[in-house]
Amino acid sequence: MGGLSARADRRGVGPSTREVIAERVDRIADGVVSLVLVTPDGSPFQPWEPGAHIDVHLGGQYVRQYSLCSSPDDLSHLRVAVLDVPGSRGGSRWIHGNVRPGDTLEISEPRNNFPVRDSRKYLFLAGGIGITPIIPMIERAAEAGKDWHLVYGGRSRGSMAFAERLVGTYGDRVDIVAEDERGRMDLAGVLALPRAHMLVYACGPGGMLRAVEDLCMGWPPGSLHTERFAATALGPGSVAEPFEVELARSGKTVSVPTDRTILEAVEDVGVRVLSSCRQGLCGTCETTVVSGEPEHRDAVLTQDDQDGGATMMICVSRAAAGCGRLVLDL
Ligand code: FES
Repeated sequence: MGGLSARADRRGVGPSTREVIAERVDRIADGVVSLVLVTPDGSPFQPWEPGAHIDVHLGGQYVRQYSLCSSPDDLSHLRVAVLDVPGSRGGSRWIHGNVRPGDTLEISEPRNNFPVRDSRKYLFLAGGIGITPIIPMIERAAEAGKDWHLVYGGRSRGSMAFAERLVGTYGDRVDIVAEDERGRMDLAGVLALPRAHMLVYACGPGGMLRAVEDLCMGWPPGSLHTERFAATALGPGSVAEPFEVELARSGKTVSVPTDRTILEAVEDVGVRVLSSCRQGLCGTCETTVVSGEPEHRDAVLTQDDQDGGATMMICVSRAAAGCGRLVLDL
């Protein structure tokens, strides 16, 4: 979640939050501001690992997820970078228009849906504001003396947050591909040869990630790890069907019509479920599936997890076609 998803959502029942102070608000690239957040009493934040994000509660209306791009070794502050999405009426506009140094914000504790597995070698691929979760990953890989390489693409150098700093710190391990200088990233070339003992971590816009997924089909299973800004689009011909959900613990059964999510239908009968993004992006509403086949529409679970069907994100995922009834551990 390096940037914002485009759709605004109602505020849900979220995980526990805390107040922080925006100590610094800096414009660090065209359309990108960096927020440095500290605790009111100067106490350290809880430990987090590369790939983690926080929820930021915006003006009492919206919750957005932003990847942490500060150092996990320095818990005196957290840093996020926010892209002002053109035409956005939601989170990015609100942050760019409202947050000033000294303001108080409400955030969640860090959570991680994009953890880094140990490996001898890493290939990091970042598109635009998707660089944010990659920055702590690189720091950790460099500290551990790993073999790694970053390919970072964007419209122009001026729009690419942290580009100069990355090149200055890491030299030729970093390949900056500004579209107005070199065209788009040559993903086909970069990913042409599957490499053993190398993990690929990619974050960026949906089109870039779809291309990366296609190009990694021939790589060893488990090589590719991605993080999206928005949940996966439905495949062609996929339509929403009504179905029933049995809530095993509360003994209730709810109908989920085509225009409601499971989460909304469950809330309608008074069952409270933790939720945050309500877009299939954050993992907060993950729910255990007792029986039935889900159709996963989230951007959190891995393909293996989705195929296993043990849990589902009930803010976006539904029952698979022909599966008229899901039983959930609620
Ligand atoms: Fe974020 Fe469902 S509330 S994935």
